[in-house]
Amino acid sequence: MEEFQIILDCAKKLGHTVEILSSIKSGKEASVFSALLDGRLVAVKIYTNPEERAFQNSNPYLAGKFYKRASEERAVGKGNTFGRRLKQDSWITREFFMLQKLHKAGAVIPEPILHIENALFLELLGDDEVIANRLIDTVLSGEEAVLAFQSVLKSTKIFWDLGIVHGDLSPYNILWWKSQPYIIDFPQAIDVRTHPDARVFLERDLKNIVKYFRKFITVDFEEVLSRFL
Ligand SMILES: Nc1ncnc2c1ncn2[C@@H]1O[C@H](COP(=O)(O)OP(=O)(O)OP(=O)(O)O)[C@@H](O)[C@H]1O
Ligand SMILES: [Mg+2]
Repeated sequence: MEEFQIILDCAKKLGHTVEILSSIKSGKEASVFSALLDGRLVAVKIYTNPEERAFQNSNPYLAGKFYKRASEERAVGKGNTFGRRLKQDSWITREFFMLQKLHKAGAVIPEPILHIENALFLELLGDDEVIANRLIDTVLSGEEAVLAFQSVLKSTKIFWDLGIVHGDLSPYNILWWKSQPYIIDFPQAIDVRTHPDARVFLERDLKNIVKYFRKFITVDFEEVLSRFL
């Protein structure tokens, strides 16, 4: 795969060794693999070509985002190759930047390790035998659910206090590993300072989480919301 080669060459130039092991999930916008990075077992998320990628769904998230140069803004607006490239680069850079910021602040997310081209190297939630399940595919005991719910809320509050809303939070974007819920998938994350509808996205994120945990425990949505006021 040509995509791989560019990443491998680039990693080599930077003094890293990368060995792709196996596919975890391949999707329309990105594919995730297990890999060895300098001998460490990691996950690598590779975004598909901007030419092949559909951006229509992402536009609401970019409201309030600005580009440094008018020519860049026009290119993004027109959706030409340069614009699509710019927009994709900004998504990948943003995702890595968010992950670093949130991980440092103590949110339960995979550790971001390296960003090369259109690839993000992350802590692998799994080992050489099993890969973490998504929360949606996991049945929790009452006790596990209480702890997991508190953990997800705590991380979401860390995001909020840093001016970030995940924007696509749901049990599909949380992985269950070693009895801990890890929140993943941040390219659409919202900057509260510049996004006019940040609060709407926060409430939607919280509703998705509450709905899932209600399968296992009693949850008061208003009480949850009040923690974010
Ligand atoms: N750090 C990780 N460790 C293990 N598996 C991971 C990791 N990150 C992602 N995955 C796997 O890859 C899948 C897709 O990852 P992610 O949600 O970040 O990408 P996506 O392009 O948004 O995919 P989707 O459309 O399914 O949400 C996850 O559901 C999970 O199974
Ligand atoms: Mg996802």
